[in-house]
Amino acid sequence: MKIIGSSNADVGLPLGMAVLRQGGSALDAVERAIRAVESNPLDHTVGLGGLPNLVGVVELDASIMDGTTRLAGAVAGMHGFEHPISIARRVMQDLPHALLVGEGAERFARECGFEERDLLTPEAQDIYEQGLRRGGDGAPYASAVLRAVVGRLAMQPERASGKDAGTVNVLALDSAGNLAVGVSTSGFAWKYPGRVGDSAVIGAGNYCDGRFGAAACTGRGEIAIRAATAHSVVSYLRAGDDPLAAGRRAMEELNDFADAYFSTMNCVVLAPDGRHAAFSSQEGARYALMDETSTEVQMLPRTFVRVSPVDA
Ligand code: GLY
Repeated sequence: MKIIGSSNADVGLPLGMAVLRQGGSALDAVERAIRAVESNPLDHTVGLGGLPNLVGVVELDASIMDGTTRLAGAVAGMHGFEHPISIARRVMQDLPHALLVGEGAERFARECGFEERDLLTPEAQDIYEQGLRRGGDGAPYASAVLRAVVGRLAMQPERASGKDAGTVNVLALDSAGNLAVGVSTSGFAWKYPGRVGDSAVIGAGNYCDGRFGAAACTGRGEIAIRAATAHSVVSYLRAGDDPLAAGRRAMEELNDFADAYFSTMNCVVLAPDGRHAAFSSQEGARYALMDETSTEVQMLPRTFVRVSPVDA
């Protein structure tokens, strides 16, 4: 039994581990752990308290994948629900679909009985408004769309603090040997409305195959989407790499996709035998872990892999 995740998963891992200790499934553990992060108003990258999009609306993406069945469910660009991870799970379990977006996802959430909630906290609104005031021309974005729309992206808090780029990853291995992965995020703060990141894209920010392993990403979702990073990691596990080699290869590939702005990526890997590894393009980053012997969450260093534009 094991449950690992991004450093901000620390508030949820004990709850997920309790599920595993009671004989619960990896899927239940992942969902339980992520719900705790989604409810944490101090985390401005996930769920309640998440930073909003360009027009001030908290816009959520989430996905979950079951390594045993290789079924997946995801929601993207949805507003007004505290637990997108649970809605993604219902998409996986109740519909013949893998991804619902926007109004369709919200309609489905209402039909399932999920409670609606205003997710924009006063603190998140304040950070958003400060960013708008400080925004301006001249930020070094390679993306013409972003440059045109939001010079203010330079004000993203994680850039200022040097911390991980937000989003939560949780990967679990249960007592029956099943693997599952979940990802949830409020995405790129000040993003263009409707922008969807890797967290909702199976193969980009989340992939799980119980035969070979699981991977999840945080960071600038655009590059994980273009490189299909989570799926690449699992493909390398399938080809025989251990988690350290598989993750490193997938991270190093990002050098071909990075540019002056999109060069932040983090990845967590878990194999069916419990071996694990985690990576970051930022030095000093950590990830969180619990197993059956843990009395508390352990924070472990991620392997640093430089990701930089090819012409840097
Ligand atoms: N990795 C989260 C995002 O790009 O939205």
